Amino acid sequence: MRVLVTGASGRLGRVVLPRLRDEGWAVRAVSRRSRADSTVEWVAADLSTGEGLAAAVAGVDAVLHLASSPTRRTHQIDVLGTRRLVVAAGHAGVGHLVYVSIVGVDRVPFGYYRHKLAAEQVVAAGEVPWSVLRATQFPEFLEELLRSASRFGPTLGDRAVLAQPVDPGEVAARLVAILAAGPSGRVEEFGGPQVLRFDEAVRAWRSARRSHRPLLPVRIPGRLGRALRAGGLTTTATPTGTRTWADHLADTYGGTGRK
Ligand SMILES: NC(=O)c1ccc[n+]([C@@H]2O[C@H](COP(=O)([O-])OP(=O)(O)OC[C@H]3O[C@@H](n4cnc5c(N)ncnc54)[C@H](OP(=O)(O)O)[C@@H]3O)[C@@H](O)[C@H]2O)c1
Repeated sequence: MRVLVTGASGRLGRVVLPRLRDEGWAVRAVSRRSRADSTVEWVAADLSTGEGLAAAVAGVDAVLHLASSPTRRTHQIDVLGTRRLVVAAGHAGVGHLVYVSIVGVDRVPFGYYRHKLAAEQVVAAGEVPWSVLRATQFPEFLEELLRSASRFGPTLGDRAVLAQPVDPGEVAARLVAILAAGPSGRVEEFGGPQVLRFDEAVRAWRSARRSHRPLLPVRIPGRLGRALRAGGLTTTATPTGTRTWADHLADTYGGTGRK
């Protein structure tokens, strides 16, 4: 069985590819630029124009759609690009399209999340049988957020915001299982093993990095703040991943302190 993976060069894509190969899938991987790799067939395609998509989906049994552009031309790439992909996959007779989304896209009023929800709806309305997996935040993303919130000295943040980081390797394993199970026509959620308050996450991060940076509390206002504090980014779905924020920090910083 052959699967086309969009977003194959991204954080999640890089851990999905070896797992697919281990499970016996022949993998074709999409990138906007040409790449060489002896273990994967790379093809060039661009969701923002549709260029290369027809050739990319030709002869594949399934599509795993991971590509996304959170900060630039998001409507063009995530929503219209997903529509281009779904239409091309429909013409090619693809049997299953799996779309990766984010826990909270239906509850948290972020612009990016509105686009992800719209892309889910494009997938569900398309003619290709589908499954959607919404994952919570990857720990690497949470770290990027913390670094950015600390760029002026103290770490700025709303102490009561709830997060549930999930290991991308465990998300990848779930995706491979969904591909094997076939189209469900359902939106499934998958989160990490623990729900953490922002201040707990910051304390653990600080201690792993041997940092004494203070947390400067800032309350996020309005609907966005309420949704984030009410657990809009978390899920009660089971099963969950098993790797914790502390596991990620121990792997990243070990006993050596700041990186
Ligand atoms: N990061 C998180 O914490 C998180 C949590 C839950 C769910 N997700 C979802 O998981 C998916 C993967 O996230 P990630 O963090 O692995 O993403 P990422 O590292 O930012 O990678 C984004 C990928 O999208 C591709 N891409 C961007 N624009 C494209 C275009 N116009 N045409 C074709 N491909 C394009 C890029 O491919 P090239 O540069 O090679 O062209 C790249 O491989 C996304 O759908 C995201 O919403 C992420």
